[in-house]
Amino acid sequence: MAASAVQSIDTSGARARPPAPGMDGAPPGEAPDTAPARAKPLRQFLRTVTPTGRARPFERSEIIVSKTDPKGIITYANDVFLRVAQMEEETALGAPHSIVRHPDMPRCVFKLLWDRVSAGEEIFAYVLNLASSGDHYWVLAHVTPSWGPDGKIVGYHSSRRAPRDNAVEVAAGLYRQLKAVEDAAGGKADGMARGAAALGDFLKEKGLSYDELVFSL
Ligand SMILES: Cc1cc2nc3c(=O)[nH]c(=O)nc-3n(C[C@H](O)[C@H](O)[C@H](O)COP(=O)(O)O)c2cc1C
Repeated sequence: MAASAVQSIDTSGARARPPAPGMDGAPPGEAPDTAPARAKPLRQFLRTVTPTGRARPFERSEIIVSKTDPKGIITYANDVFLRVAQMEEETALGAPHSIVRHPDMPRCVFKLLWDRVSAGEEIFAYVLNLASSGDHYWVLAHVTPSWGPDGKIVGYHSSRRAPRDNAVEVAAGLYRQLKAVEDAAGGKADGMARGAAALGDFLKEKGLSYDELVFSL
């Protein structure tokens, strides 16, 4: 992506807040605990919400947007994000992006996402997210790094559209397999490595790269 295009999505806006606590695993590293007093317990509650199995629809014309600092702490969430995730802006800003993590998502997909964007590359990914009610929503996310004037990554930007039903069907089937592989492993790190290997095997069998798979759906 051209540097000029990336400059336009710099995260230093009036709504940006200082980083807040990394909860369990906002990569990479920990952020200082500066969360507003009311927002923190709510965020912890959201990490334990039980999925309802109900889909939370949004319009095909809508774009769910968020920006993060380099550690994945949310610095901006647009109105569509807040409405679909059923979250107050106060809760979202300063929270790790895993605040909308769905427990069915395989870890290896997030590892791939972080490997790519922290290396300065962009990525498209199908992601299943969890709203605060426990309802879920699938997105096709485009995640990009944002660069500062010194050439360092100052944050990340994600734009998400509603994916096609048949793409969701394929992604959900693949993610179920990857999650099962991860769950059968001894621990988190082992699970992630096995999940990544299983994703590699799946792609090899299809004769596709990861990007080719995403764009083929
Ligand atoms: C810009 C950006 C957007 C992200 N969007 C999401 C998202 O919509 N849903 C999600 O679960 N994780 C998202 N992540 C990844 C999270 O930071 C995190 O890696 C993931 O939720 C797994 O969390 P865990 O390691 O605590 O399980 C995003 C990361 C970045 C940098």
